[in-house]
Amino acid sequence: TKYEKIEQFVKGFKLSSLTYKRVMHLLNDEMNNGLHESMNYHADIKMFPTFVRALPDGTEKGKFLALDLGGTNFRVLIVRIDQRDVDIQSQTYLIPQRIMLGTGIQLFDHIADCICRFIRDHDLKDETIPLGFTFSFPCRQEGLAKARLSKWTKGFRCEGVVNEDICFLLHEAMKRKNTTTVDVEVVAVVNDAVGTLMSAAHTDRNCEIGLILGTGCNACYMESLKNVGLWEGDYEEPAQVLINTEWGAFGDNGCLDFIRTEYDRELDTYSINPGKQLYEKMISGMYMGEIVRLTLERLSMEGLLFESADRDCELFHRGRFFTKFVSEIESDHDEFFRNTKQVLDEIGVTNYTTEDCNIVKYICTLVSARAAFLASAGLATLINRMNKPEMTIAVDGSLYRFHPRFHNLMVLKIQELIKKGLKFKLALSHDGSGKGAALVAAVAMRLRDNKQ
Ligand code: BG6
Ligand code: GLC
Repeated sequence: TKYEKIEQFVKGFKLSSLTYKRVMHLLNDEMNNGLHESMNYHADIKMFPTFVRALPDGTEKGKFLALDLGGTNFRVLIVRIDQRDVDIQSQTYLIPQRIMLGTGIQLFDHIADCICRFIRDHDLKDETIPLGFTFSFPCRQEGLAKARLSKWTKGFRCEGVVNEDICFLLHEAMKRKNTTTVDVEVVAVVNDAVGTLMSAAHTDRNCEIGLILGTGCNACYMESLKNVGLWEGDYEEPAQVLINTEWGAFGDNGCLDFIRTEYDRELDTYSINPGKQLYEKMISGMYMGEIVRLTLERLSMEGLLFESADRDCELFHRGRFFTKFVSEIESDHDEFFRNTKQVLDEIGVTNYTTEDCNIVKYICTLVSARAAFLASAGLATLINRMNKPEMTIAVDGSLYRFHPRFHNLMVLKIQELIKKGLKFKLALSHDGSGKGAALVAAVAMRLRDNKQ
């Protein structure tokens, strides 16, 4: 029958529990490689020590600027912290694609422009304000405020930034602005996963993992220093450090090829970073819509879907089927398929039948469930490693926020994959990672003051 034929083209998305357990083993091994290899140049999963050694304890105070770059929105924030009270004002600015793919100088000049505008609009002139920078890309940190970009990921590819210290680049750009009224000092650079964790840990003591399910996918967690072969800092108590796993690169050495489908391969071939971030490409929001689109395209070519679709419509163009469509389609709960029809209209598919709608929704559920389960396998690996009786995971990102089933799918799968007796909670982090960057900046300033 038609449905049996469809199964032939989608069965690769259905993975058994045994397969997810195998993924967990592989991930655990790869994480150990990342932590232990001297210089770790050959490990795909970088496991970068972040120089964040302590979580906020609620005594933090002060006024901080924060930047949040690398997710859906670029934001500048002013964060006022008075112990548990946090007041945030923020402004979103656009980063045009020509800048995302331009030069580093253009990117940092643009960021400096936005900072200056923000300072003017919020009347913050004539002060020196410490700044926490959420920079959501893999960085090799040499200190809290020194972070060299190891490679670009997601939609960015600015020339002349890889291997450079991004704090230095920002300071140079601020100098080029040549304003005397603004004095900004970058005191901490953090990844968005770290920012998300810090933000949630401010009020939840059990929170020691941060997870991003947004444009990209990444996690960070607290690791004992004795396990961190890469650690070059001091060994003062607490003997632990937050690790930015950069697990999006899991599979880049081919170890996940046994689960990658023809659609994953095609998506990768036409991406701006072929062969890179293969685990992320099976999970995150920048890619999920495209995996669904490629599958629908294939079924349509095989005569199993949209018999009379126009070959020129958006469905047959790369990158035109967004992940938010997947969330909308899966929010349909009856035979009227209101959202599904709206999406199909929007992408120019006409003459669809109710059966077509059903198949489209089915494909969306398969692709998103695989994504949720793969992310769960990642989290379960961390939860088992840390082996704490109770653990809160701070989660942020548009995929997790807007997909109707992601949270529930993950809870069930994690339960199945972790050691018996361990308890966990997935908690949405409400304030974004800008607040977390400000908290790291606050801790940095406190330590600096203590030393003086
Ligand atoms: C936000 C953070 O809350 O989550 C961003 O403040 C982060 O910095 C983001 O990158 C991840 O989600 P998305 O969907 O915007 O990529
Ligand atoms: C990509 C980046 C990583 C970031 C994640 C989520 O994987 O490399 O640094 O945390 O996206 O934004």
